[in-house]
Amino acid sequence: MKELRNKVAAVTGAASGIGRMLAVKLAEEGCEVAISDINEEGLNETKEMVESRGAKVSAHMVDVADREQVYRFADDVAAHHGGVDVIINNAGVTVAESVEDIKYEDFEWLFGINFWGVVYGSKAFLPYLKKRPEGHIVNISSVNGFITWPNHSPYCAAKFAVKGFTEVLLQEMRETNIRVSCVHPGGIKTNIARNMRFYKSPGNQMSQEDVVERFDKIAKTTAEKAAEKIISGIKKDKRRILVGLDAHIMDWLTRIFPVQFVKVMAAAFGRD
Ligand SMILES: NC(=O)c1ccc[n+]([C@@H]2O[C@H](COP(=O)([O-])OP(=O)(O)OC[C@H]3O[C@@H](n4cnc5c(N)ncnc54)[C@H](O)[C@@H]3O)[C@@H](O)[C@H]2O)c1
Repeated sequence: MKELRNKVAAVTGAASGIGRMLAVKLAEEGCEVAISDINEEGLNETKEMVESRGAKVSAHMVDVADREQVYRFADDVAAHHGGVDVIINNAGVTVAESVEDIKYEDFEWLFGINFWGVVYGSKAFLPYLKKRPEGHIVNISSVNGFITWPNHSPYCAAKFAVKGFTEVLLQEMRETNIRVSCVHPGGIKTNIARNMRFYKSPGNQMSQEDVVERFDKIAKTTAEKAAEKIISGIKKDKRRILVGLDAHIMDWLTRIFPVQFVKVMAAAFGRD
């Protein structure tokens, strides 16, 4: 989709971080924007930021883990904006706990948002996107869609699953007007670490405050830069969008050392 001007884009998880900056940057490209989240206060702040760019915006309270709410979101966006051209399935959370000790409730909470939210968003918006000359589905995975670290099994498993799901969708859509992108950000300065359900750090020794502090240090890319990179990928119809130098380095290392790199990550993170 070379031109975003006068298109309609929907973004989930838009009350904070990457989702918020995607909404703002899409507005600057001339898009109408439909934003959703479960955090009403943050969503209203994003709405004001988008409005200040002169764009038409609608805000929707949507829990992406709730299938009915996501389908209603798609119907409401199409009704309010007269159609929809782009869906960005961005909402995501994390939980830090070992496989041995994690509660199924936390595992399912994360999968509901990070995996099922992406599936619901893709399927609910697809019929609307097909009605437009061009449509684009953007699913946010992570570097954890191809690398892993200890005490993050639900997050890694869900992000690997998003990659697999999105690649199959891309194959199935190849003869249609729909383009599909899978995004793999490295460390992005957002609230994700502050918002996580925290039990144990990868090396079992750090508190959540320590983890947040370290995350803020190593996450080099701003949410604004991440949004710009994703939008540039949409405009180039890129199927795979890596965000940040760290994502490129990790991608390269997993190709050269596919087995060794798993051990290296365990050693690096296992010591906190
Ligand atoms: N920050 C990073 O380093 C990083 C790296 C790779 C991938 N990602 C992915 O990027 C996406 C955005 O994360 P972020 O870093 O901006 O985090 P963030 O915590 O700043 O924003 C996530 C947003 O998702 C919303 N959300 C949480 N649960 C929801 C639900 N059930 N329904 C709807 N919205 C919900 C939150 O309210 C929040 O506004 C996520 O999918 C995340 O996994 C982030």
